[in-house]
Amino acid sequence: MSPFHLTRTLPEDATGAALRADVRHGLTRTPKTLPPKWFYDARGSELFEEITRLDEYYPTRAEAEILRDRAGEIAAAAGARTLVELGSGSSEKTRHLLEEMAGLRAYVPVDVSASALSQAGQALAEEHPGLDVHGLIADFTGALTLPDTPGPRLLAFLGGTLGNLLPAERSAFLASARALLAPGDALLLGTDLVKEEAVLVAAYDDAAGVTARFNKNVLLVVNRELGAGFDPDDFAHVARWNREQEWIEMRLRALRPLSVKVAALDLVVDFAAGEELRTEVSAKFREEGLRGELAAAGFATTHWWTDAAGRFALSLGVAR
Ligand code: SAH
Ligand code: AVI
Repeated sequence: MSPFHLTRTLPEDATGAALRADVRHGLTRTPKTLPPKWFYDARGSELFEEITRLDEYYPTRAEAEILRDRAGEIAAAAGARTLVELGSGSSEKTRHLLEEMAGLRAYVPVDVSASALSQAGQALAEEHPGLDVHGLIADFTGALTLPDTPGPRLLAFLGGTLGNLLPAERSAFLASARALLAPGDALLLGTDLVKEEAVLVAAYDDAAGVTARFNKNVLLVVNRELGAGFDPDDFAHVARWNREQEWIEMRLRALRPLSVKVAALDLVVDFAAGEELRTEVSAKFREEGLRGELAAAGFATTHWWTDAAGRFALSLGVAR
């Protein structure tokens, strides 16, 4: 069996300290916000996997179609010996790539979700004898130290997760992604594309209410980790298309006036009836704009592939 290593790059209390800082900052400002990375405890990661199987949630199927059809081309263009994947989750779609990357020596999945990472990493190590699978529990918005594995590197960021970063975070992220690579290494980026509002809103407000449970999971994370007293039933799930920014916003709307204690912060957070807490943006992209953002970060976009219906794009940017 090939080796599977799991490394926690964050100091023991870094996650707790970061959550405390994000909750204090995000819930004491107007409008209230929380960063989406806090959705993903074990339950949140499972709910996300459930979302990927919903009829309304097309991005996973669309990206899987591109990867299935183009994995050979991607593998040939990148010629990588190490595949680093940020926000790898279940690594399900990555299997298409791993099958085609004949010269691959190491796979480095990076995620904040220890549960998703260890399940996926263990399974992939068993399926790919000879491949060094080295999982990193880390926040990809911070400084990353990658294990010393052979180049060239292919850095994959799939699923449209780039869209969950705000514009300033996005350009900082792309610049640090470039800094992880040597000239000639490549970035494989999955991005959801701008489309009809009704299709977008349905993808984030499914009939079975799975996305609503995923959205409210952040309240349960804050309850458990910081001793807060949120009742998820006090909030309604909201998914709204922001036409100006071209992103979906997920929000939680207080159904009545609330005073919620956050014990670990010695804080009481007041919500007016109808007040909304923004929990996620999910930006949708256009080809020209994304090529520009990649160029600004030091990548030349050499390939642009979409699914047959033109809903989702995979791009390959070569580090200059
Ligand atoms: N790439 C997978 C999973 C996408 S879900 C797919 O396409 O299906 C987003 C993933 O990114 C989750 O596994 C989540 O835990 C992880 N994630 C979100 N924010 C993160 C951050 N700041 N640092 C590291 N991982 C993060
Ligand atoms: C991980 N990310 C790309 C998903 C998205 O579509 O923005 C997260 C998600 N939020 C609600 N549904 C799925």
